[in-house]
Amino acid sequence: MHNENLLLDVQNLRTCFQTDQGEVAAVDGVDFKINKGEVVAVVGESGCGKSVTAFSILKLVSRPGKVTGGKVLFEGKDLAQFSDKAMQKLRGNDISMIFQEPLTSLNPVYTVGYQISEVILLHQKLTQKEAREKAVDMLKKVNIPRADKVVDSFPHELSGGMRQRVMIAMALSCNPKLLIADEPTTALDVTIQAQILELMKGLRNDFNTAIMMITHDLGVVAEMADRVIVMYAGKVVEEGDVFTLFKDPKHPYTKGLMKSIPKIHELKVELLLRHSCEN
Ligand SMILES: Nc1ncnc2c1ncn2[C@@H]1O[C@H](COP(=O)(O)OP(=O)(O)O)[C@@H](O)[C@H]1O
Ligand SMILES: [Mg+2]
Repeated sequence: MHNENLLLDVQNLRTCFQTDQGEVAAVDGVDFKINKGEVVAVVGESGCGKSVTAFSILKLVSRPGKVTGGKVLFEGKDLAQFSDKAMQKLRGNDISMIFQEPLTSLNPVYTVGYQISEVILLHQKLTQKEAREKAVDMLKKVNIPRADKVVDSFPHELSGGMRQRVMIAMALSCNPKLLIADEPTTALDVTIQAQILELMKGLRNDFNTAIMMITHDLGVVAEMADRVIVMYAGKVVEEGDVFTLFKDPKHPYTKGLMKSIPKIHELKVELLLRHSCEN
């Protein structure tokens, strides 16, 4: 049956890398769906294929990697049929991504204000001046101090944490239908991390933005996610709503993951509270 709410449908996705040891399937037949407005966490140990999955969805895998199989449907449309230009448009509009490494996605030759304004102007009928003011607002929202100065800085003039926040501001500026966030807050300190998670929740509440949240932080999962996908060695090994997964993990990897968290009991209590608030 056709699901009106379905936003992203990943089917049997496979992405390989050519290495000296032969072909390695970094993503090895991955299936999952994300509904409109849904927050799906993707967890799994380092190297299990989370980032490559995200890059594959956006058609950003470059040599020696290659998507060798499967399908990615966004709003029912097969992204394999999209030209490079159409993909570029999709990435700036309907899908935005916060990368693990922010330097790769900020353009070194433009000020951060210019780059955020460009995104804003694509989506809203504003003057340059208004867009710039909105860019300053966005920088303030991600808690950048002296935002009215930073807006005229170039990426290399900022620290890693600041660049990460600039990128988040940019990703949130276009009110995407899907936000793919690859460990977006790992490099940030706890207070700022909490503020950014709040911002993302706001985006979901205000614009029904779906979020694919790649993380290894179960605290983030407990706080944000509706559903969790667990990956292991390029495959999805477990999937379920966040409450069931915390309560009753099935796969040995997931069980181990839950056990490795010192504050797992506190997290469970927090989750139960959230559960009872939402129902
Ligand atoms: N540039 C590359 N060259 C060769 N192999 C790669 C490359 N990038 C990723 N891989 C392979 O893909 C696997 C998954 O990587 P990745 O998706 O980045 O993991 P993570 O789950 O930590 O995000 C890695 O274990 C590695 O084998
Ligand atoms: Mg990664």
